[in-house]
Amino acid sequence: MRMVHGILMWVLLVSATCHFVSAFTDGLLPNGDFEKGPKRSDMKGTVVINKHSIPNWELSGFVEYIKSGQKQGDMLLVVPEGAFAVRLGNEASIKQRIKVTRGQNYAITFCAARTCAQEERLNISVSPEWGVLPMQTLYSSSGWDCYAWGFVALSNFAELVIHNPGVEEDPACGPLIDAVAMRNLYPPKRTGTNLMKNGNFEEGPFIFRNTTWGTLIPPNIEDAHSPLPGWMIESLKAVKYVDANHFFIPSGRRAIELVAGKESAIAQVVRTIPGKHYSLSFAVGDAKDACVGAMVVEAFAGKDTIKVPYNSKGKGGFKRAVLRFVASETRTRIMFYSTFYSMRSDDFSSLCGPVVDDVRLLSIRKP
Ligand SMILES: *[C@@H]1O[C@H](CO)[C@@H](O)[C@H](O)[C@H]1NC(C)=O
Ligand SMILES: *[C@@H]1O[C@H](CO)[C@@H](O)[C@H](O)[C@H]1NC(C)=O
Repeated sequence: MRMVHGILMWVLLVSATCHFVSAFTDGLLPNGDFEKGPKRSDMKGTVVINKHSIPNWELSGFVEYIKSGQKQGDMLLVVPEGAFAVRLGNEASIKQRIKVTRGQNYAITFCAARTCAQEERLNISVSPEWGVLPMQTLYSSSGWDCYAWGFVALSNFAELVIHNPGVEEDPACGPLIDAVAMRNLYPPKRTGTNLMKNGNFEEGPFIFRNTTWGTLIPPNIEDAHSPLPGWMIESLKAVKYVDANHFFIPSGRRAIELVAGKESAIAQVVRTIPGKHYSLSFAVGDAKDACVGAMVVEAFAGKDTIKVPYNSKGKGGFKRAVLRFVASETRTRIMFYSTFYSMRSDDFSSLCGPVVDDVRLLSIRKP
């Protein structure tokens, strides 16, 4: 009896430990920066011919293993994390199986650089969910942009696939991928002091410490699986998620930079009571990223709107604004965008814009 009990205990302990060790929470995926690469004998030039030779990944199609500093035509390839990256040619993909917790929300962050094709896209998926991220807009002049994508785990394993659906004439013309990370998200709830969810943007995707250009939240993101919990990204272009390690943040550690004028808006639909008075307050500022000049953030609460001008010296700063309104519906759309486009004063090919942070919505008494 004692023996059986002992074995049972051991089984319980082992399974508890396994569970504890393996469910992924935060950071670079195993070999997510591709620093562990194939053996010479598994490659032909830069092309990887053995599909299982990059540890933790399974490859399919035309995949190249690229070393930082390698030349392609007259372009020097530089890699943001460590010294290696992969390039996905036409219809190529990379896959990794990740231990996750069923029912939880996750955000993937990965960095990619366009090489020769203009219309490059990537299809990122954890079956049955997928998203096609357009890469024709370059947001940072380094050539590398990091993108976020969110999913809800339907089982305790997630099979992450990044696929290049391209059909270029030159099969080697595909995006470079480096630094794949993941973060377990804890979608914040509305509170008594704020009717917005995640109004201060503190909960969101992973931002790499070694990259200075933030993480893009791509367009057409739906509410439930947003990598930025609570928020939707409307319209055509991305918004940039920035953190206090590299940027000025009005409140807390993270905020949103509206980098694509009226083409990128963030929105959240909140429950309201028709006829009741509300106050929407928020911070508008600049991220201390050399984004200089006259900026305007437009905020909307249903049909009500306010334009908040902000004159940026590019050195970090913010002001607060308030929009008071009377709700006319049971649901009110709260939305923000930047009226103008801006470019960094130190780098005319990087998009930038005003920062929005600390969004609060309160029901108020009739003023
Ligand atoms: C980040 O950058 C530092 C300094 O360049 C480097 O030593 C470190 O290895 C980098 N970290 C990663 C994960 O690449
Ligand atoms: C993206 O990939 C998923 C999973 O492989 C697939 O089901 C979906 O059809 C793909 N979407 C496009 C537009 O290629």
